[in-house]
Amino acid sequence: MTTPITFFNHLEDLDTESKYLVHKAKEATALAYAPYSKFCVGAALILEDGSVITGANQENASYPLCMCAERVALYAATATHPNQTILKIAVVAHKKNHKDLTPATCCGACRQVILEFEQRQKKPIEIIMFGTQNQWLKTTATALMPLGFGKESLE
Ligand code: THU
Repeated sequence: MTTPITFFNHLEDLDTESKYLVHKAKEATALAYAPYSKFCVGAALILEDGSVITGANQENASYPLCMCAERVALYAATATHPNQTILKIAVVAHKKNHKDLTPATCCGACRQVILEFEQRQKKPIEIIMFGTQNQWLKTTATALMPLGFGKESLE
């Protein structure tokens, strides 16, 4: 059995594809609309055909309507490439006007959404994120959501 969460001390220790996705996620932070939190998040995912789709958080004066970068990227991917399996998603964040990354583990709502994508496509999605211990983490939504609520709960 593989480790549910793998920790990396340096970005360089990640595989080439993950490093590339982190780079694309960093680029995507420039497209965050975060005038309220000033917390700019970028996500980049790769599909089985090699397409890379990015997203950035989009906020609203009505705060609960804010949308996380991960979900912007995931929904864009399924809306434009409906039959493609999502292999991996990288998520990074920085505070506005700071260039250094800050920890950004996916929020619970995004974990729930990624879990549903994993269940739909019957394949785990690797999640790469910068954790609170300033370490890179590699995991899956299934590993992050023990006893998660899914479609089977409604049957
Ligand atoms: N945010 C994300 O984009 N992804 C997460 O997983 C955590 C939070 C955004 C939402 C909001 O725009 C800002 O970060 C502060 O919560």
